Amino acid sequence: MSDKLELLAPNQVEQLMQAAQWASEKAYAPFSKFYVGAAILTADGQVFTGCNVENSSYGLTNCAERTAIFSAIAEGAVNAENDLCAVAVVNRDGVPCSPCGACRQVIYEFGPNAIVIFKAKDGQITQMQADDLLPEGFRLRG
Ligand code: THU
Repeated sequence: MSDKLELLAPNQVEQLMQAAQWASEKAYAPFSKFYVGAAILTADGQVFTGCNVENSSYGLTNCAERTAIFSAIAEGAVNAENDLCAVAVVNRDGVPCSPCGACRQVIYEFGPNAIVIFKAKDGQITQMQADDLLPEGFRLRG
């Protein structure tokens, strides 16, 4: 475990989880019927949300976390290694859901120290640092 983990305050967790829940209502997931929402907190204090977007060509699916992060990048709020402070992810129907491997790598790119909040398999709302979720995450530079 990382020794630099700083948990989010309960009201911050609640705010991000609520935003993620609202985003999950917008998910386009007619194939899996697994509706996911994500909310991210950026270093400048902004919250961005995203949902999963599936496609008839299954492999083109974009996860909720990446939708949120890519939106923040497009708006100019995320562009460097420590711009991402927190990521919350929820399944619309309360099913446990932690970020997939691809999303862990994308989170790591912009926030190796970011706090990731999710419902774990044991049903507990869990906070973990991104670089604990993805040990030895890949980085081209630095
Ligand atoms: N999904 C996400 O949106 N985020 C994750 O971290 C896990 C998986 C989506 C992708 C797909 O649309 C559905 O959940 C089932 O895999």
